Formats: sequence, structure tokens, C-alpha cells
Amino acid sequence: MTANLVLDINLATDEQIGANGISLRDLEELAPRVKQLHAELQEKRRTKVLPFFDLPTDTAASEAAKAIAADLSKSYDNLLVLGIGGSSLGAKALFSGLCHPLHNLLPKEKRGGMRLFFPDNADPVTFSGILDAVDLEKTAVAAITKSGGTAETWSQMLVLRERYARLGEGAFDQRVVAVTDPEKGALRRVATKAGWRTLPVPPAVGGRFSVLTAVGLLPAAAAGIDVDGLLAGAADMVRRCESDDLFQNPAYLAAAVLYLMDTKKGRRIDVFMPYADALRETSDWFVQLWAESLGKTKDVGPTPIRAVGATDQHSLVQLLMEGPNDKFTTFVRVDAPNVDLPLSKGWEDQGDVAYLGGHSMHELLNVEHQATAAALAQAGRPSMTIRLPRLDAHGMGQLLMLWEIATAFAGPLYGVNPFDQPGVEAGKKFIGGLLGRAGYERYKSELEQRSPKPDWVV
Ligand code: PA5
Repeated sequence: MTANLVLDINLATDEQIGANGISLRDLEELAPRVKQLHAELQEKRRTKVLPFFDLPTDTAASEAAKAIAADLSKSYDNLLVLGIGGSSLGAKALFSGLCHPLHNLLPKEKRGGMRLFFPDNADPVTFSGILDAVDLEKTAVAAITKSGGTAETWSQMLVLRERYARLGEGAFDQRVVAVTDPEKGALRRVATKAGWRTLPVPPAVGGRFSVLTAVGLLPAAAAGIDVDGLLAGAADMVRRCESDDLFQNPAYLAAAVLYLMDTKKGRRIDVFMPYADALRETSDWFVQLWAESLGKTKDVGPTPIRAVGATDQHSLVQLLMEGPNDKFTTFVRVDAPNVDLPLSKGWEDQGDVAYLGGHSMHELLNVEHQATAAALAQAGRPSMTIRLPRLDAHGMGQLLMLWEIATAFAGPLYGVNPFDQPGVEAGKKFIGGLLGRAGYERYKSELEQRSPKPDWVV
């Protein structure tokens, strides 16, 4: 029996926190738009314009990813997961959310999967550090780029190609799996020519909505994550979100609260604060999803901030509590821990310590969440809380799908297209120009014309 994720918006309402909260009326006034946007989204789902809704039930795709992962696991211990942005953040969220915190350090029989490494950035310090630590003979490579042409990912491929060549002919070709567009792009062309194994990224699934394609599923399965449980959790969330009633649909309700907080209450900054270290990377994933999908015009673009409880109680929370009253916090807490540690009774003559004995570490973490949310509410600072019954594959599937649907819904609510990223593409043109890419010469000239003044460089 699997339990449902719960969204609690009490501390976002005027009933609980006064004038800074939203009212039942605010939500009810949105109802006609919700119904209309729901009909539009469902039509796009039906006509396959938005296939991300149906990824959880695409068994052929998940079986293909699982089969390749199983095959790699037989021959190799490590998987280098090359990719950036939407081609990395989802898999990282799954890895840190669902694997042992020190997965890569555990012996094989305890890990239950391959070691995963995410170089992500084109930073030679990180990448060479990883290459220092892994034995390439025992290492496979997942090259993940939906467009097939991302510079950071290709930079890593170019380094690896040369390193694997030292292991002998064909060493690289045997070890690479390309995850990319089924037809287009440089990676597809190279993979086809070299005869690499490949997995497709459905063209109509945007990078940041692709965690439940092979982009996330291949690394997840390789690490030993319960891919079927993950997809079942996501499918359950899709079903819950088939309702056009705001009060039955947790994704729409979450998006509506954030939208109203922004547009009616001047809260353009969205803090995402799970009380679980394992969800740190999920905060990163959320930040990309929310920022890249909604930051589209000079007037639209809530600013997401990542945090983690209780660590940020000793950092960001002072600002949330007493700084400018322009933020909204979404907490995530886990009800039943996978692991807990009882706190023994000790140092009972010390008031600062004595009250902790007899409780548990998980209890402390959750009480800290409750206390922080209550203190914020008392100061008239709104928040909402997502409660995961457990931090397991099913819960994670629900959480990720909740935010994908919330984002798909928030886009049209704000009047922007959440599925493109023209701002990211603009920067890529200048990269091509600066590094001498054929056909990109004019971008280099454009940059050169800017002629910065030496006086302003100190
Ligand atoms: O969400 C997106 O579309 C982007 O963040 C991309 O995922 C990112 O730019 C990487 O692109 P690609 O997968 O084509 O390498």
C-alpha cells in the first residue's frame, strides 16, 4: 500500500497568518481560469503536444533504459553521467534522493548498483578529479544531450575519447550510451556512425521535463533505483492532477498559491526548503524547472531559491524571518524516516542538551520544520508544506511529477510559454562565436564591438 503526498497550504492563508495570506476568495476567483487552462493542458496531452504527462506509463521506454542499465552493470562498476541542465539535474535528484548518501563509497554488494559520477559543468578541476578517481577500464559513459550539441557535454566527450583511446581500439565505443533526440543532432549522427548504443529522448519532452525519460531513468536504473516504483508514483500524481478542481489537484493548488503570492502579495521570491539532505539536489532541479520555465518577460519570472532545513535555519532563515517581506517558502518534509537514530539520554544536568534525550534525530528535524514554519507564520510570513509519506521511489515520483505539472500550469497562468528557453540559446551563440565555430563569426564581432573601457577594470 503506497501513500499519497500531501500539500498543506494552511500557513499561506489569511485565516492563519492574516493580511499577508491569500483568501479562499482569491482561490475561488481563479477557478474559471483553472478549468479553462486544465482543458487546454489536457487537450495538449491528448494530442501528444505535451507527452511528459504520459511518460510514467511508457513501459517500452523504461524497459529499454533498464535493459541497457542492467547490461552496463554486468561489465562496469562506474557510470559517468555526462549532461548539463535538464540533462543532468533530474538524474542527480534521483541519485541523491534515493541512494545511500555515500553510495559511491559502499562495496558493490551493499550499493546494489553502479557508482554514478556527474561532472555536469565544463570545469576541468572537477572533471580531471573524477578521472583521477575512476578506473576507466571499469567505467561506462552515459552521454546525455537532447539537442545533441551542448558544448559542456561535448567537451567532456572529447577528453574521454582521447583517454579511452589509451585502453585500445573500440574501448570508448563499447562503453558509451548516447541519450539524445531519435533523429537529429550531432550526438545522434556520431552515435549512428560509431555504432554506439542509444536511447531516445522524445522530441516533444523539454530538457527540464525529461527526468522520467531515459535521461533520468538510465542513470537511476544503473544506480539500482526502483524505476518502476518511481514511475508508479509519478503516474499516481498524474491521475490526481486529472481534476480541474483546485482543491483536488495538488499541482494546480501549489502553482496557484505561488502565483497568487507573487501577483497579489508581492512575493516574487520562492524558497524551496526540504528538511532532508537527500532532497538538496531536488531543490536544484526545482530551481531550474521554475526559473527556466517561467522567467520569460521583464514582468514575469518568480525567482526560486534553494535551501535545506535545518541547515539553512543557521543561514537563510534570518532573512526569511526579518528581512524584506517578499518571499514565500515551500517546505518539504518526510513523515516516516527510512533511517532514524534515537537520541540517548545524557548530560542531563545541562539544560541545553537534556531535553533532546529520549527523542530521535528524525523527530528533531521534523520539529525544526514545524517550529520554523510556525515562527514564520507568527511574523506574518507565509509558507506551505509538502509532506512525503516516505522518501522512496514512489514518493519521489509523486514529488517530481507534482512540480512538472505545476510548472506546465503556472506558465499559462502567468501568460508565458513554460517549454522554451530562448535566453539560454542566446548565450550559446556567443560561445560558438568566441570559440571559432563556423557560421558564428558575427556573434564574435558583436562582442568585440562592445569594447569595454579599461578605466572600469580595477
Ligand atoms: O531544460 C532545458 O531545455 C535545458 O536546461 C537543457 O536541458 C540544457 O540546456 C541542456 O541541453 P541538452 O540536453 O540539449 O544538452
